[in-house]
Amino acid sequence: MKSFISASLLSVLALCRQTKAAATCGNFTIIGANNYTKPSSMTFAVSQGVVCNGTSDCSVPVGGDVTDRRTTNLTDSTPDWAFQLISNATGYSFNATLVGAVENTTYTIHKGSSGYIGFTPTYRCTQGILSACENKDLDGTPVEACTPFGWEEGMINGTLAAVLTSPETALALVCNPANTSLASSGNSTNFCINPSNSSSGSTTAPDLRAGAGLSNSVGTVLLSVSLLVAIIGI
Ligand SMILES: *[C@@H]1O[C@H](CO)[C@@H](O)[C@H](O)[C@H]1NC(C)=O
Ligand SMILES: *[C@@H]1O[C@H](CO)[C@@H](O)[C@H](O)[C@H]1NC(C)=O
Ligand SMILES: *[C@@H]1O[C@H](CO)[C@@H](O)[C@H](O)[C@H]1NC(C)=O
Ligand SMILES: *[C@@H]1O[C@H](CO)[C@@H](O)[C@H](O)[C@H]1NC(C)=O
Ligand SMILES: *[C@@H]1O[C@H](CO)[C@@H](O)[C@H](O)[C@H]1NC(C)=O
Ligand SMILES: *[C@@H]1O[C@H](CO)[C@@H](O)[C@H](O)[C@H]1NC(C)=O
Ligand SMILES: *[C@@H]1O[C@H](CO)[C@@H](O)[C@H](O)[C@H]1NC(C)=O
Ligand SMILES: *[C@@H]1O[C@H](CO)[C@@H](O)[C@H](O)[C@H]1NC(C)=O
Ligand SMILES: *[C@@H]1O[C@H](CO)[C@@H](O)[C@H](O)[C@H]1NC(C)=O
Ligand SMILES: *[C@@H]1O[C@H](CO)[C@@H](O)[C@H](O)[C@H]1NC(C)=O
Ligand SMILES: *[C@@H]1O[C@H](CO)[C@@H](O)[C@H](O)[C@H]1NC(C)=O
Repeated sequence: MKSFISASLLSVLALCRQTKAAATCGNFTIIGANNYTKPSSMTFAVSQGVVCNGTSDCSVPVGGDVTDRRTTNLTDSTPDWAFQLISNATGYSFNATLVGAVENTTYTIHKGSSGYIGFTPTYRCTQGILSACENKDLDGTPVEACTPFGWEEGMINGTLAAVLTSPETALALVCNPANTSLASSGNSTNFCINPSNSSSGSTTAPDLRAGAGLSNSVGTVLLSVSLLVAIIGI
């Protein structure tokens, strides 16, 4: 019963959200923390897969390009006007996407394990409140907004870590997906094209797709519930 209610309410809310998308707010006030960092929900493969079953640790070459995007904790499709307001208040930009380079270096995978090296971008974030909204229901909405950023021209800030997988998954990652022209043109699908065999097309490690495709659905549901309260007045 409970899940039936929330499922049907959510579909009503999906419609409500669409009609609300046209409304704008005129003001964003920073309240709470500003310009703090936190990790992106996305982790990108920045090395080939490695099965390290020799007698010593493996030094894995790392590098390439990754693409990440600005987010809020409201909906997956926060409109551009909101980011412009927020950017004006914080003094740093929230570009729709950032295509950035990861430093060429090496990272260790310990003997007896297999996997690849993952890069998790670091976000710069702010918290605040929307006001002066055309739609009064949005007035006072608390928002957390985050954006990837670089530490030097063309680079992107983030952290490296070994992501351990089965040997099969590691073997399927036959190239470094960040070290491709697809990646440098802004496509970070962890899609791996076998460079040694053009006729074999591509190999995609199944674990990788799951790892890079996290969405912010929890935040969307929470916003929907708060809008519902505002609309129906529960
Ligand atoms: C924005 O909202 C804050 C807090 O309500 C208020 O102090 C400020 O004057 C507003 N700014 C504008 C330009 O409306
Ligand atoms: C690692 O083990 C696999 C099978 O278990 C084997 O095919 C492969 O040659 C081994 N690789 C190394 C570097 O020892
Ligand atoms: C990227 O690819 C080039 C050749 O295409 C290779 O020389 C280089 O080692 C690769 N770097 C990484 C980190 O995969
Ligand atoms: C940008 O912020 C300043 C205050 O910092 C405010 O006076 C101005 O109206 C804002 N502009 C926009 C377009 O929000
Ligand atoms: C945000 O913090 C960084 C340090 O992490 C600093 O370099 C930058 O100037 C700050 N930006 C603003 C607009 O406060
Ligand atoms: C990493 O090395 C590649 C060549 O393999 C080069 O094209 C790229 O610019 C280097 N990246 C950085 C950030 O230095
Ligand atoms: C979004 O973040 C703000 C600031 O941290 C918080 O007050 C608010 O409850 C969050 N909203 C959702 C829907 O998670
Ligand atoms: C946002 O894009 C502008 C114009 O392309 C660029 O100058 C700026 O450095 C970018 N900001 C960030 C944080 O990437
Ligand atoms: C961004 O990365 C650079 C190089 O790793 C580092 O020096 C800097 O402290 C980082 N900035 C932040 C805010 O994490
Ligand atoms: C990324 O590249 C793949 C393979 O060419 C393609 O199927 C996919 O649509 C591209 N994604 C984006 C966002 O361009
Ligand atoms: C390339 O891949 C195709 C299809 O997987 C395979 O039939 C062919 O033998 C491969 N060629 C080489 C040189 O590995």
